[in-house]
Amino acid sequence: MVANCLICIILLSIGLAIFGAGWRFLPALREHLPTEQTLAYAGAMIGRLNHVAIVVADLAAASELYERALGARVSAPRVLPAHGVTVVFVDLPNTRIELLEPLGADSPVRSFLERHPEGGMHHLCYEVDDIIAARDRLRAEGARVLGDGEPRLGAHDKPVLFLHPKDFCGTLIELEEA
Ligand code: CO
Repeated sequence: MVANCLICIILLSIGLAIFGAGWRFLPALREHLPTEQTLAYAGAMIGRLNHVAIVVADLAAASELYERALGARVSAPRVLPAHGVTVVFVDLPNTRIELLEPLGADSPVRSFLERHPEGGMHHLCYEVDDIIAARDRLRAEGARVLGDGEPRLGAHDKPVLFLHPKDFCGTLIELEEA
């Protein structure tokens, strides 16, 4: 009888310990379980928000502002002559911000800066699995793909395309093949 009770108490203690540990780790576990937000629905074409691009007049000043005022981690500047920009990347836990400064007279963001001398949000970049399939689907929907419609290598050396802002709620959209 005493032995039985002892076994019961030991089993109960083990059970409680396991339950307690599980309870404690539940939030951590839950973070890694798919939720409605993290599960892409079957018809989804766009995936993660790859980056938000902000055009700035003074990259050094903007980098310092992000580091000092927002406590952000800002990369060293990268000069991208092929894209007509100098860029820094601000890494956030769920995406990144790209601060773009015009480079050269033909920079594609120079006219934007003339219209918005204080700087401003330039585009959003969504990831897609297949950029050609995405382009064809968007064209079939009536969306305008900028340029000749052929993907070119973006700032991350992956194929990108841009969609006309007037077709997307006034926002320039970049698609990047993930
Ligand atoms: Co971009």
